[in-house]
Amino acid sequence: MSNDHQDDNPPSLKPILDQNACDFSASGNLHIDGLVQERLQTLGPTSVLFYRKPLEFDHGQGVWLFDTDGNRYLDAYNNVAVLGHAHPAVSDAVAAQLQKINSHSRYLNKAGHTYAQQLLATLSAGEDCGFLPDPRLVMTCTGSEANDLALRLAFLATGAQGVIVSEAAYHGNTWLVNQISPSSCRQLPDWVATFSLDALQQEDIPVHQAMAAIREEITRAINTLKSRGYGVAALIADSIFSSDGVFAHPTGFLTAAVDEVREAGGVFIADEVQPGFARTGEAFWGYLRHSQAQQPLQPDIISFGKPMGNGYPVAGLIAPDNLLQAMADKEGYFNTFAGSHAAVAAAQAVLTTIGMEGLQENARHTGAAFKQELITLADSCPLIRSVRGAGLFIGVDLVNAHGEPDAELTSQIINALREQGILIGAAGKHGSTLKIRPPLCFSQDNVALFISRFRHVLTTIHS
Ligand SMILES: Cc1ncc(COP(=O)(O)O)c(C=O)c1O
Repeated sequence: MSNDHQDDNPPSLKPILDQNACDFSASGNLHIDGLVQERLQTLGPTSVLFYRKPLEFDHGQGVWLFDTDGNRYLDAYNNVAVLGHAHPAVSDAVAAQLQKINSHSRYLNKAGHTYAQQLLATLSAGEDCGFLPDPRLVMTCTGSEANDLALRLAFLATGAQGVIVSEAAYHGNTWLVNQISPSSCRQLPDWVATFSLDALQQEDIPVHQAMAAIREEITRAINTLKSRGYGVAALIADSIFSSDGVFAHPTGFLTAAVDEVREAGGVFIADEVQPGFARTGEAFWGYLRHSQAQQPLQPDIISFGKPMGNGYPVAGLIAPDNLLQAMADKEGYFNTFAGSHAAVAAAQAVLTTIGMEGLQENARHTGAAFKQELITLADSCPLIRSVRGAGLFIGVDLVNAHGEPDAELTSQIINALREQGILIGAAGKHGSTLKIRPPLCFSQDNVALFISRFRHVLTTIHS
């Protein structure tokens, strides 16, 4: 079944793990160089490091990470620590749970039911979510496992095997989901077809134009699958298109893609690993941002992970009861660590704290102010081509003096920011988009610090 359809995976695509990677030549710091060598000799080459000069952190607090020399870094990158680093609500809940009982999910645990009820209640912001009849929560340990299971359910629901993904998507690391992750899998199999988001480069594109462009792309992908002898099982999309370089607007454009896929017999899997859990500010789930009164966006399966446990490994999916029943009739699903007492305690602490600390609201208003500051900066800096995003998930496209995307320049800026005490990463098919996704407790003062250091770095590089 595997095939080398490289037309679906353009040679210019910058693999996600190559972006902002470590330079293994000496960093000038004997302690760090020794650790890097030790790591290569113990953990081996698949264990990728960030930043040309890698960092060793000692502890974190809120939006800050502190290295072993006591230097402080503003974290504008790590979306897992959604509440902030080392948040006591999570560490206390997990510690208390570990001291009492932590076992697998084949024993009854009422706390898991309470959590599921509360999470399911977020699905449609209080409205009836008839599209997902009798939704149920299945817990996993990672987003990859959640997407792996989501694909198995999609294959079962449709009897088809073709999958459509965005052209620089990342959906995880199992054998199955690596194959639907063009940003990591160098040769896509022939049952995977991709679509481009290039038409959405500028956020002010009218929604009808965006929908028409996406519809055309999806139709092309469907026809590609059909020409290779496959039906359409699923469109899987992360609605903020994180690895593609952050495409958040115009809201509603995704509905056209889902309509096309449904007409071809496929289901829609909303991969909420990146935009879920209040990050985009406008809604708890990313897909809900695209859901309009006239044209609701209705996933068939929703997967999530990363922020769900603020660093404790907990992830999962929501699917309709009848689909899970169809799977259970065929084969069971058991995952040793998923839904353990400690995992539920971590997840519950995160969900409760997002509400108690008003983090969705903070993501909305601090994110809007942050984006505006970046747009203002772009007016005076030719290295910034565009700024896109929603809430505290912002992408900044960088270009070189010739107006071209430039992964090397982007990496230079990221590493210069690291020297200035700001942590940030890259995304996008050219590896030339800065991906900004700080903890949701990011403040206006944090924004001001980021902007002043960013301005300094851009001015130094541009002069
Ligand atoms: C959109 C998306 N889906 C799935 C995953 C996989 O999640 P995990 O690393 O928890 O397996 C990731 C991880 O980066 C992701 O960004």
